[in-house]
Amino acid sequence: MASELVSTWLRAQPTLTGTPLPVVLDDLPADPAMLFRTWIGEAVAHGVPEPHAATLATVDADGVPDARTLILKDVNSRGWAFAGHRGSQKAERLLAHPAAALNFWWQPIVRAVRVRGVVLEATPEESAADLAARSASAREGITPGEWVLWRLVPTRIEFWNGAADRRHTRIVYFREGEDWSHTVTGGEADGETQA
Ligand SMILES: Cc1cc2nc3c(=O)[nH]c(=O)nc-3n(C[C@H](O)[C@H](O)[C@H](O)COP(=O)(O)O)c2cc1C
Repeated sequence: MASELVSTWLRAQPTLTGTPLPVVLDDLPADPAMLFRTWIGEAVAHGVPEPHAATLATVDADGVPDARTLILKDVNSRGWAFAGHRGSQKAERLLAHPAAALNFWWQPIVRAVRVRGVVLEATPEESAADLAARSASAREGITPGEWVLWRLVPTRIEFWNGAADRRHTRIVYFREGEDWSHTVTGGEADGETQA
């Protein structure tokens, strides 16, 4: 496409073309990992392709950001788990600066989730178990010591629920010591509510 047409074409493209799901704001769980499991379950139920694919952003030792796509391996109150090669740039960057953000975009249901926090390396046994669970072709040439499982331990998580009328809902969890608080803005929420 000619370069002068790209801007015109890009601006003409529709966005938020999926089919929004109703968002249930009553009885939001105290633990955001639980809400994430509900949402990814709904993504699976509504046929979202590869809902476990996410963008992981890191920064290097100089604070320069980078991002790449990867696969979520697990989610629980210990964090959001992902894995990769110890010789990779992400491993180097996480060593220099063990913090990251993980973004999910589930286009067919107009939902996005944004997770940020610190990153901890799992035990060698957990990393080896993750490698062992991969297919034979995905394991090829990788020895257990070369494979790392990390957990992003969140301090803040945003659950964004798109709406046809553009009254999108944003549920934000933030850590307060050992506990979580959350706010709800937009959508059906009457102003900003806090729990
Ligand atoms: C759908 C998809 C899934 C991917 N899953 C992983 C993964 O689970 N782990 C991984 O290290 N790289 C995965 N990659 C490759 C990364 O995007 C990236 O190219 C690679 O990890 C090197 O990134 P780095 O140089 O920042 O370390 C995946 C790529 C795509 C497109």
